[in-house]
Amino acid sequence: FKVPAVSNEPMRSYAPGSEERRALQVAIAQMEKELPFEVPCVVNGKTVKTGKLAKQPMPHDHAKHLCTYHEADQATVSSAIEGALAAKADWEAMPWNDRAAIFLKAANLVSGKYRYKLMAATILGQGKNAWQAEIDAAAELTDFLRFGVKYVEELYAQQPSQNTPGCWNRVEYRALEGFVFAISPFNFTAIGAPALVGNTVVWKPSPAATYSNYIVHQIFLEAGIPPGVIQFIPGPAEEVVAQVLGNPNFAALHFTGSTFVFKKLWKDIAANLDKYKGYPRIVGETGGKNFHIIHPSAEIKNAVMQTIRGAFEYQGQKCSALSRLYVASSIWNSGFKDQLLEETAKLKVGSPMEFTNFIGPVIGRPAFDKITGYIKKAKESGGEILIGGTADDSVGYYVQPTVILSKDPKSVTMVEEIFGPVLTVYVYEDADFEKTLELIDTSSPYALTGSIFSQDRKALLLATNTLRNSAGNVYYNEKCTGAVVGQQPFGGARASGTNDKAGSMSIFYRFVSARSIKENF
Ligand code: ALA
Repeated sequence: FKVPAVSNEPMRSYAPGSEERRALQVAIAQMEKELPFEVPCVVNGKTVKTGKLAKQPMPHDHAKHLCTYHEADQATVSSAIEGALAAKADWEAMPWNDRAAIFLKAANLVSGKYRYKLMAATILGQGKNAWQAEIDAAAELTDFLRFGVKYVEELYAQQPSQNTPGCWNRVEYRALEGFVFAISPFNFTAIGAPALVGNTVVWKPSPAATYSNYIVHQIFLEAGIPPGVIQFIPGPAEEVVAQVLGNPNFAALHFTGSTFVFKKLWKDIAANLDKYKGYPRIVGETGGKNFHIIHPSAEIKNAVMQTIRGAFEYQGQKCSALSRLYVASSIWNSGFKDQLLEETAKLKVGSPMEFTNFIGPVIGRPAFDKITGYIKKAKESGGEILIGGTADDSVGYYVQPTVILSKDPKSVTMVEEIFGPVLTVYVYEDADFEKTLELIDTSSPYALTGSIFSQDRKALLLATNTLRNSAGNVYYNEKCTGAVVGQQPFGGARASGTNDKAGSMSIFYRFVSARSIKENF
């Protein structure tokens, strides 16, 4: 059987007066009326209330919380792992068409029945505005599930290999032996890849996205994922991680989050290596210090608008978000600077429920402190705040979109990841374009995304070659965020991750283990 053809989920407009805007408003109002919710662990399809309670505060109004959740205790983690191991054989043996159907059904539930509920939970819990919630919680998650099915079908179709007369060779893509540990972030919901190829998964969502991720888990169950295939165990991070990584059946890590945590996990895995049956697969998508470089030939208006969107959408909290900008001085002085400041000044900051607000709150207290700390450091080290620079955490965690001009291309905010609405600009002499490319390449440990703005093909070529290893996703004359599943496989190398490319076929190879069978007749 062939799975149905897939295409990207169309994005809805949420224009004033539109049906989708009304439906989303209804969903938000309903959720506001019912909150706070109680979120349990879910193990083998059953609710587990450990009584170890933690809260998910709402970033726009941190005195209130969206949910209280039960953190997994030791016994719950043990039964999650045991249940995942017990569920594995039947899940892997389930005919592919049936496994595929479950994920296609889950995709339809995300894009249809639960779209607005999931978006409301993302808006209230993670501070996304409607359009950012639409990108993540509705469109991208749907795409991951649908395109995932297509990729796995292609993967399985590759299994027969070269035969010779009298000999039949087969290559079989088995699921990994053991269970997969998935740790997902607050900003995007990419979950499902390991399970699609027959693995069972112990899933620890980000505490800042507990409620929306719980809804996703409920959707999986409603779609027919057998109990035990995806176990939902929110925090506490350190204890859960130590227990899971200490288990001999740990087979793979599917991680999205910070570089610091990923390195720590990698070292923990190394420290446990002798316990494991095999060498665990380690898949990580981590930090970034993403760049735009504006060549003297760039079209100014487009470069300005793309820069603003890249840096400030979702408060700069996408791993792909722009945070260092290199502008040719001729461009900077002939309108770019003025337009950048003028357009940034127009961005409205406030409640993510209000459709006119471009910028909502940052995710939480640690993020707020880190971002404001960087703004302070920039000021102290000679950075000039061109706009923004202020913040207010009295009700929600609001940081004004901030543009810093730095004379030092290696200043702290030019080099370190901030993960907030802070853009640092370095103005280079037009003649130094090539030197600036080298600077981009060498001044950050990250290599996630980057954009080149130029109308000169030779400059694009030079930049692409010089920045060969500086970004896993490169854009020409377009912002460095917004990779689309199936269109721009997403991920970076160096300190940004293992570059296994979410939204493409490549990631699935990491979660299977091939077996070759040769038979002579
Ligand atoms: N896939 C997301 C983007 O490219 C992270 O912005």
